[in-house]
Amino acid sequence: MARKAKNKLLKKAKKSKSDEFYTQLCDIESELRYYKTHFKDKVVYCNCDDPRISKFFKYFAINFEELGIKKLLTSCYREQTGELFGEQNQDSGFFFEYTNTDEEKSKLNSPEIKLFKGDGDFRSSESIELLKKSDIVVTNPPFSLFREYVEQLVRYDKKFLIIGNVNAITYKEIFKLIKENRAWLGINLGRGVSGFIVPEHYELYGTEARINEFGDRIVSPNNCLWLTNLDTFKRHEDILLTKKYFGNEHQYPKYDNYDGINVNRTEDIPLDYEGAMGVPITFLHKFNPDQFELIKFRKGNDEKDLSINGKCPYFRILVKNKRVKIQSESVNTYNKSFNTGMLKRAS
Ligand SMILES: C[S@@+](CC[C@H](N)C(=O)[O-])C[C@H]1O[C@@H](n2cnc3c(N)ncnc32)[C@H](O)[C@@H]1O
Repeated sequence: MARKAKNKLLKKAKKSKSDEFYTQLCDIESELRYYKTHFKDKVVYCNCDDPRISKFFKYFAINFEELGIKKLLTSCYREQTGELFGEQNQDSGFFFEYTNTDEEKSKLNSPEIKLFKGDGDFRSSESIELLKKSDIVVTNPPFSLFREYVEQLVRYDKKFLIIGNVNAITYKEIFKLIKENRAWLGINLGRGVSGFIVPEHYELYGTEARINEFGDRIVSPNNCLWLTNLDTFKRHEDILLTKKYFGNEHQYPKYDNYDGINVNRTEDIPLDYEGAMGVPITFLHKFNPDQFELIKFRKGNDEKDLSINGKCPYFRILVKNKRVKIQSESVNTYNKSFNTGMLKRAS
């Protein structure tokens, strides 16, 4: 086989392998505790989840009453069935509806699943029927289909809280949603998602790979985020700014191909700069839409990567501080009325 084709195959295999990362209960708990008020009287759907193994299903079943959930739906893709059980893959996907009755509670460890006619793909008509009946979708979807997965949630106008790779921010479709305030980052990011359970046949790689107290094989890629359109306290908190541009201009070089300054770290964003600033993508983790406006991603006026003296810093997001304008406007108004007062008194 030609080398190029082989590399392509390897890349594909690697990509689909990371689709089999199963989320740990501890990571679900540490994110979900910030969204409790959103679930009251809602139908929750985990559409990439086998209720026999999914910790998302477990979390919502255990906390069903406390959260006030109306119904819990889960559905599972056929290739997922048996992944962790070492079973032969079956032909059909399946689904499960849970309303927390005493009978259902007593059978939590062996839920009575129902077979789909098809494979349970989240894009299949059967899965979409369940999606239509739901209010909030919460899961860790296949990484390789992330764009398509989010696009479907948006198309059906669903609330969601999902896990993705940090790089997802750099996908133009996802950045567009963030820019338009139709999606934002959740609370935990990077090391804040402690690791994923991987199947038996999966290589345990990385210095933090381990087997946990339940015997689960864990790898920690430390490169994940939560993406959501559920409100949290965090996106209403201002980033504390302490640095100044005026007097320190040399620390903030201007771009060759955009009228804006480069800022290497979110904490170095100057509090007195009104124009465009290029900040690292991790800025989005602290982004408060009342404080900042997102203008553009990565490219200058020439649609080439932003550059400084010909060199391109790693992906930058162009932002503007809304408060600086407000501040300078109120200073101007103050100056104006002060001057008018002086003139009146003088005359
Ligand atoms: C990253 S894993 C996470 C599994 C589970 N949601 C969890 O968090 O533990 C993504 C799952 O989606 C399944 N999957 C892959 N392609 C799918 C598709 N087209 N439709 C639905 N599920 C799919 C994979 O088999 C895999 O089990």
